[in-house]
Amino acid sequence: MQSIKSLSTTVIVLLCCLTGLLAQPYRPSAAINARVETLLSKMTLEEKIGQLTLYTTDWGSTGPTIREGYKDDIRKGACGNLFNSHSTAFVRELQKVAVEETRLKIPLLFGFDVIHGYKTIFPIPLGEAASWDLEAIEKSARVASTEASAAGLNWTFAPMVDISRDPRWGRVMEGAGEDPYLGSRIAEARVKGIQGKKLGDPDAMLACVKHFAGYGAPMGGRDYNTVDMSEKYFREFYLPPYQAAINAGAATVMTSFNDYDGIPASGSKFLLDQILRKEWGFEGFVVTDYTSINEMVMHGVVANDKEAGELALNAGVDMDMQGGIYQAYLKKSLQEGKVTQAQIDEAVRRVLRLKFELGLFEDPYKFCNAEREKNTLLAPAHRAAAREVARKSIVLLKNDQEVLPLKPSQKIALIGPLADNKTELIGNWNGAGNFNDCVSLKEGLSGANMQYAKGCELDGADRSGFQEALRIAGQSDIIVVAVGEKANISGEATSKTQINLPGVQEELVLELCKTGKPVVVVLMNGRPVVIPGIAEKANAILETWWLGTEAGNAIADVLWGKYNPSGKLPMSFPRSEGQIPVFYNEKSTGRPFDPNSKWTSKYIDESNSPQWPFGYGLSYTSFAYTTPKASVETATTRGIPSGKQVKVWVSVTVSNTGKVAGEEVVQLYIRDLVGSTTRPVKALKGFRKIMLQPGESREVRFDLTADDLSFYRSDNTFGMEPGEFDIMVGGSSNDVKSVRIRVN
Ligand code: BGC
Repeated sequence: MQSIKSLSTTVIVLLCCLTGLLAQPYRPSAAINARVETLLSKMTLEEKIGQLTLYTTDWGSTGPTIREGYKDDIRKGACGNLFNSHSTAFVRELQKVAVEETRLKIPLLFGFDVIHGYKTIFPIPLGEAASWDLEAIEKSARVASTEASAAGLNWTFAPMVDISRDPRWGRVMEGAGEDPYLGSRIAEARVKGIQGKKLGDPDAMLACVKHFAGYGAPMGGRDYNTVDMSEKYFREFYLPPYQAAINAGAATVMTSFNDYDGIPASGSKFLLDQILRKEWGFEGFVVTDYTSINEMVMHGVVANDKEAGELALNAGVDMDMQGGIYQAYLKKSLQEGKVTQAQIDEAVRRVLRLKFELGLFEDPYKFCNAEREKNTLLAPAHRAAAREVARKSIVLLKNDQEVLPLKPSQKIALIGPLADNKTELIGNWNGAGNFNDCVSLKEGLSGANMQYAKGCELDGADRSGFQEALRIAGQSDIIVVAVGEKANISGEATSKTQINLPGVQEELVLELCKTGKPVVVVLMNGRPVVIPGIAEKANAILETWWLGTEAGNAIADVLWGKYNPSGKLPMSFPRSEGQIPVFYNEKSTGRPFDPNSKWTSKYIDESNSPQWPFGYGLSYTSFAYTTPKASVETATTRGIPSGKQVKVWVSVTVSNTGKVAGEEVVQLYIRDLVGSTTRPVKALKGFRKIMLQPGESREVRFDLTADDLSFYRSDNTFGMEPGEFDIMVGGSSNDVKSVRIRVN
């Protein structure tokens, strides 16, 4: 291949990506406010409370059903919103009740968890985050929204932006991993993709940022468990992605199940009023998570359901998901003076505004066009987009002796419980996806000189398939073995204490390694896994998450080298569960690790470092970085407002030193050497994904903003402090070069 030695155009990296700059927090127009007031003045108290009520319908085995009594509730105006009802026919049937049989003809909102695709399923969100490709992630959300809005829906319970450093928590699969900066940029991209050009377009849905707040930090990694940490820590590491999503225009917010600082999120004035509305200026509506108002009784902060409803409304919850508390008790609470009419009216306004914004009053059936539904779902362009994102989401964790990519002449032994599987590959939270539409790895590799054996099941102790697997391995030049998790063991309510591969899968891989044939492990899972044996013995490892409808094609593209892997881990992979939480941006301790001193921060039976760190991922080519240069040694930042650029930039030249073209994620980290509160040893503040031809070099420039250098200081204010900063650039959080600057 021709080598191009050039120093091409400088790439200017604006640390606020374009998405963030263009988008605005949601603001209702004066015209909409006026329409809301007119409608509000005609509403009875019951009708108002109905707008604050959200119930689920069921998709039973025989099709869509609506629970007993709900249609009557809709008719009376006592239920103004539904979820889990999709497809144009079903939505139309229910919407008809609202707009033809109710007094005020207020249309219903239809919500659904469209988490990584509606019918065309994209990689799970954690997988997509590994692409570090904001355009691709936005496109994925756009396609999901285009399909879902063609199937009757106008509201999705996404994006999930909960930062998590605990892979025991099964819901890490739904988020963007451990880092607030990456998480924030991805949150913006997803909101933009979901809400499209503007609310009111026929293919735009309301986004719902969830779960506000701190849901990703349950103690012990146990789902629904309590959350507690200092406010500074919470604001620095957990809150940024929610705020980024609000700034990108997210119209709605969902509360979380957990408490924070002793108050359940659905009853927290601090979260919903102080932070969300007062500090961030959020003007959309807040919905609870599933029955989380009721659960405040079990949290033990209120004595009964009625008090729970009062706590929620007083805190700033607008809509009650599935709990029926507002419907049952708000009237009485109002009569008793526990809540006010003004509070109820304000919550109703927030809901109605968005119904107007969506254009539902002009055409309540605008999302119910059966023809559009038929032509949109699984459209070839959507599948193509899914394949593209899926390839980008794959992370090459190991590739000794360059056993990958595969060579067409090689005889392949394709082995493993996930090699010929479709059901698990669309992952958890798979919308209206059908696994039959999914391409398995075996199908993706069809045409290859290949034999197949399952080897073992995804769980259980049955080793009877090992023999056949070893037999075909013996006849091959290279072994490709697909192992991982069932889709139902990562996701909600799937916390685990052991995050290794279930059953005898690791044993199967290790047996295959003993054959001496090169072994390529294809991992398919929803969370970081602990696989020390495989990490050591396998020759190559590809982390492919659950990649969705086009999984098999995307993995085959990477295995054959038709696509050069470019993914980087959005979350650290521990060596053992005892290290959890293990993450890259930890704070400085007074006794940092020193291999020569016992009395420093470490384990005596395990290294401090994870198996593979945040930001890590290999390529079929190699990249070289120069030491970064700063535009000035000393930057003046005084008087520069938050969000604005300070007059310093850092540049680095990245070269493709290998034989094939490839993309590299150039990552920028900073460390504030002395702060009035302890600072992280490294914090991501920018990244740029660039494509380089073999021999090509490119200068990448990062402009620093005041926010990048700011933090929550000892007096609880957010801002910069003069002093020295290390600015680090590299291709992984554990592989950087640095330059020191002074800020005064
Ligand atoms: C989950 C939410 C989801 C909701 C509605 C809850 O159990 O925590 O993430 O949006 O159900 O399906």
